[in-house]
Amino acid sequence: MPFSTELKSRSKQVLREFQASDTFQGIFHSRTDPEFIRVVIRRVLFEVATYGPFITSASFTAIGRLCHQWPRVEALAMHLSEEARHPQLAMDGFLLLGGDHDEAAECKLSPAAFAVAAVCEQCGRSGHPAGYLGFMYLMEFTTITLATQARKLLASANLQILHVDMHSKVDIEHVALLDTEINALVESLPETRSAILDGFDRFAAVYPLPLWKFAYETARGELECQRQPTA
Ligand SMILES: [Fe+2]
Repeated sequence: MPFSTELKSRSKQVLREFQASDTFQGIFHSRTDPEFIRVVIRRVLFEVATYGPFITSASFTAIGRLCHQWPRVEALAMHLSEEARHPQLAMDGFLLLGGDHDEAAECKLSPAAFAVAAVCEQCGRSGHPAGYLGFMYLMEFTTITLATQARKLLASANLQILHVDMHSKVDIEHVALLDTEINALVESLPETRSAILDGFDRFAAVYPLPLWKFAYETARGELECQRQPTA
């Protein structure tokens, strides 16, 4: 069995657990209020925009370290270069959905986004560099479903955001690319298998549920404040 089949199966399990959570149900199933949809997706986009640059830099560092052992990194570097501008696109989406310009300029990591960034930084900069492929795989795989769900949710509120539209399609290709590259890497360097699984498990501890749960709860608080009558 190719190693990517195992990664895919583990990713599906993480996704199933998230889909069974109150957070997922609360965001995608139990509410149809267009204002709630705008505020919650806006908050998720802000989180993506703040942790995204750390994922990119940690992954580029990992690729730089990896090429000492495995020079075939062109496709991985190409994939990452396609990811590089996504945090800015997410921030554009945050602003389009009415996000605050000062908050965007400050770009402060929430505790949940900090945890995501910290795991990726650690995996990218220390230990075996192949560990980055574990967190990257889980992120890309889950994004296919989460972006598709978010796109439908936004459409139900007559909203459309480029970052979300794009990810519901482009990450199908990115996962296929990672399948090929990861299988080749593990075949060539079998010791990378455990490093990739470590990166996967560490990322699964902070994403997707903890990050989305934080965004969901923050959005509910924002909406409550917004709806409080002014004195
Ligand atoms: Fe991607």
